[in-house]
Amino acid sequence: MKITKICCIGAGYVGGPTMAVIAQKCPHIQVTVVDLNEQRIKDWNDPNTDNLPIYEPGLSEVVAEARGRNLFFSTNVEQAIDQAEVIFISVNTPTKTYGKGKGMAADLKYIELCARQIAKVAKSNKIVVEKSTLPVRTAEAIKSILDNTGNGVQFQILSNPEFLAEGTAVTDLLNPDRILIGGDSTPEGNDAINALVDVYANWVSKDKILTTNVWSSELSKLTANAFLAQRISSINAMSELCEKTGADVNEVARAIGMDSRIGSKFLKASVGFGGSCFQKDILNLVYIAKSYGLNEVADYWEQVIIMNDYQKRRFSNKIVQTLYNTVADKKITFLGWAFKKDTNDTRESAAIYVANDLINEQAKISVYDPKVSKNKILSDLDYLDTRKPSENADAVLTFESPYQACEGAHAIAILTEWDEFIKYDWQKIYDSMQKPAFVFDGRNILNAKELNKIGFIYNAIGS
Ligand code: NAD
Ligand code: UDX
Repeated sequence: MKITKICCIGAGYVGGPTMAVIAQKCPHIQVTVVDLNEQRIKDWNDPNTDNLPIYEPGLSEVVAEARGRNLFFSTNVEQAIDQAEVIFISVNTPTKTYGKGKGMAADLKYIELCARQIAKVAKSNKIVVEKSTLPVRTAEAIKSILDNTGNGVQFQILSNPEFLAEGTAVTDLLNPDRILIGGDSTPEGNDAINALVDVYANWVSKDKILTTNVWSSELSKLTANAFLAQRISSINAMSELCEKTGADVNEVARAIGMDSRIGSKFLKASVGFGGSCFQKDILNLVYIAKSYGLNEVADYWEQVIIMNDYQKRRFSNKIVQTLYNTVADKKITFLGWAFKKDTNDTRESAAIYVANDLINEQAKISVYDPKVSKNKILSDLDYLDTRKPSENADAVLTFESPYQACEGAHAIAILTEWDEFIKYDWQKIYDSMQKPAFVFDGRNILNAKELNKIGFIYNAIGS
């Protein structure tokens, strides 16, 4: 089977960049990305590709090349489903905020809506691809909905999880470590798997395209995120021990990372991991393990989250303690709000939780982030529901210039590792601050010696 038309439901951080790269690399395939969110689709269609709803290095060039040629963004979900042979589901699967599994399980209501809509519209056989990260065995539920509410056409369900990281989405998509495709081992299942393999084979070598059964594929995605996050919690746990013992966590990470069995990546101690995936997916894994009665398995993985929450709290506590046990009415400047550099995404960013703790201590927070708007910062805080929105608005100021943000501050906290922070004129910043001038580097990116020489009291993580 040759694929000529793809539809992707969900034009978010995964659907948008993934489909843009498929369209760029497969000019013979028409790719239509649909979303219910009209503003998002309008932004994807903005003639100026600098205004796309998602900031990712290199993305605007890919979109500029393919959009209007074989890449389309639309709100006409039904038409796109009807025309496509393959439908990717790339909608959000957040942690449930209500009912059974609240705070742990993945909320699959958007997935079910997609399945019902596909079933209603489809008048010819379709391959439905799970691109969203889903609990293991979700394909069973999708298949049941499709088969019981459809028009008698055949559906093949594939699992094809996405491993891109934000901030490097385009390079990750162009040069993936692997592509994973899970499907049924029936002849029809194999045909569907091969059809999708052929799409990726346009730019990914075949030895990097793995095919498995559906359940292995679904569970591999949760497992990959759990392992990655576990490394960060492990090194963050060591960071506190380093602070107590005179060891330096950067040196420890380097020393262990050179062991080829351990490897050097994902060993950077930090204020705590954020992002839309790690916490959500581990909580989901914990929930699944518990639902099978595997309590030891659940407790083991839950500890990764407990450690991460502790690391964020430990950072805000350290600021308060170091500033003579009070930050009331003190100006604390945050450099960075995004959960990592090179993205405008703030979901689960450590900055939100650290700010929340400090506002509880009546601090005044000033924020500079090169890509995050004031509205986003305030809505992130409002979402925690700790206090009234008007109180958050009173406690937080945002600035267009980092130097203005730092003027008169008692302390600066680095929450995101944006490259530009390293290059600032730190002498100029020091001169404009209250004394003693403190820096709390939650990303270990600044040069301790240089900052101490200027006169700062510099605090890093894990040393
Ligand atoms: P997102 O919130 O950025 O985008 C999801 C989009 O789906 C939204 O624009 C929403 O309006 C749309 N949507 C929801 N229901 C819809 C429906 N019924 N019809 C049409 N559109 C609908 O989410 P995301 O970050 O792109 O994540 C999507 C999935 O991919 C999640 O399961 C996530 O776990 C997974 N994932 C995310 C990343 C990442 O880095 N963000 C990486 C790998 C996997
Ligand atoms: C993650 C996975 O890496 C990706 O494969 C998956 O598809 C989605 O989830 P993402 O959340 O976009 O990607 O970014 P990632 O680079 O994994 O960083 C997540 C968080 O961990 C960030 O807050 C980052 O700053 C933090 N981090 C990462 C560390 O604190 N230390 C590290 O060594 C690496």
